[in-house]
Amino acid sequence: MRFEEKISPFQPQDPVVPEKFEGREEIIEFYLPYLYQSSKSIPQHFFISGKRGMGKTSLANYFKDIAEKKYKMVGIHVFNDGIHDVDSLIHQIVERLLNEIVKEKWSSKIINSFKKHVKSVGFAGANLELNNDKETINHLKDNFAFVLEEIISKFEDKDGLLIIVDDLNGLSDNPNFANWYKSFADTLSTRFKNKIPLAMILASYPEKLEKLHQHNPSFTRIFKHIKVEKLKNNEIQDFFIKTFKLSDIQIKNDALELMVHFSSGLPNMMQEIGDGVFWVNTDKCIDYNDALKGIIRAGNEIGFKYLERDLDSSIRSDKYLDIFNKLGLNFFTQDLEKDYSFRKSDIAHLLTEKEEKVFGHFLKRARDLKIIEYKGAKRSGHYTFTNNLYPIYFLIKSLEQQSEEI
Ligand SMILES: Nc1ncnc2c1ncn2[C@@H]1O[C@H](COP(=O)(O)OP(=O)(O)OP(=O)(O)O)[C@@H](O)[C@H]1O
Ligand SMILES: [Mg+2]
Repeated sequence: MRFEEKISPFQPQDPVVPEKFEGREEIIEFYLPYLYQSSKSIPQHFFISGKRGMGKTSLANYFKDIAEKKYKMVGIHVFNDGIHDVDSLIHQIVERLLNEIVKEKWSSKIINSFKKHVKSVGFAGANLELNNDKETINHLKDNFAFVLEEIISKFEDKDGLLIIVDDLNGLSDNPNFANWYKSFADTLSTRFKNKIPLAMILASYPEKLEKLHQHNPSFTRIFKHIKVEKLKNNEIQDFFIKTFKLSDIQIKNDALELMVHFSSGLPNMMQEIGDGVFWVNTDKCIDYNDALKGIIRAGNEIGFKYLERDLDSSIRSDKYLDIFNKLGLNFFTQDLEKDYSFRKSDIAHLLTEKEEKVFGHFLKRARDLKIIEYKGAKRSGHYTFTNNLYPIYFLIKSLEQQSEEI
């Protein structure tokens, strides 16, 4: 096959498709029964929290696939990034829902009942637009549980509704969303207990959940909380083996070990490494050298996509970058299961005299830029990276330096 005709089976740029979703079996086994119950008219609320790129959207999408295929539910996934008010969220949810069901034979009854709120409908019912006037939105917002019940009661060959609200981000800025959601959930449980087959999945960062909690402490109580954390090494190993197999490519053991090691539990890093290795490999077998080159390629991608904007010029100056790379190298020689925390004494033996002198400034600058933070008490001298991709990135950078020197 010619190089430009290769198609990568990896997806470093998107949430993974359900067919290639790997791991998280305990979460799925634990929460799936609740999702099933929602299709039997016991409403459920889930909150998926996890750091950037940890796989929140992929997991929500995996649940949606099961809800649609196994439990015969209608699923909609709204992305809320950039939205800061409840009105826009409601508008988006209802509009998405109407557009999702418009293809069903039984949908005309529902669409007709919304007639006075619909602005325009495209060809064959596609691209239905909902009015955006205050009156319409207030009606939907104040009666959201009733509106959903009314819609779902008209479903014919579907057993319920799953709504995913992804990237809550801006909605955590003020108390409106937390308060509105709480009263929506209360209405569901008082008026529609065991009467409405509905599941809600919200997804966001842990600090946003914390903010919502501060706005309304009862908010947190509504949900079943799903925390997405690192993948296990054996899950990552399976992912590489299976995904390369799709392109009929085998992986040598030492290469596999290296790729798993550098993925360090992070699903976005794993996809990036798989993709990087895929593109540097030229035959049906991945050896240690292919893996090394692919990892360096992946590190540069990750650096560009996630980190470089935060690494301002002061940090990128040679003296600081060298310190970071030494930190990275130091982690490489240790057990990667650890949490990438460090103290000066951990790397003092690697620093030059000059680096030793600027080390205090280096720590302050890195803290100001939120690349590192105190682990535990302030001024404890114990630091950790704010994002696990940082140490991996520096690790790969130092590896790159070494491989250039050879
Ligand atoms: N279980 C999984 N199996 C395989 N790949 C995964 C899995 N989970 C996540 N990924 C991959 O990791 C990357 C990040 O996933 P995803 O977009 O779902 O994360 P996220 O937590 O929603 O990120 P963000 O915080 O940016 O919204 C994607 O490339 C995705 O393909
Ligand atoms: Mg996401």
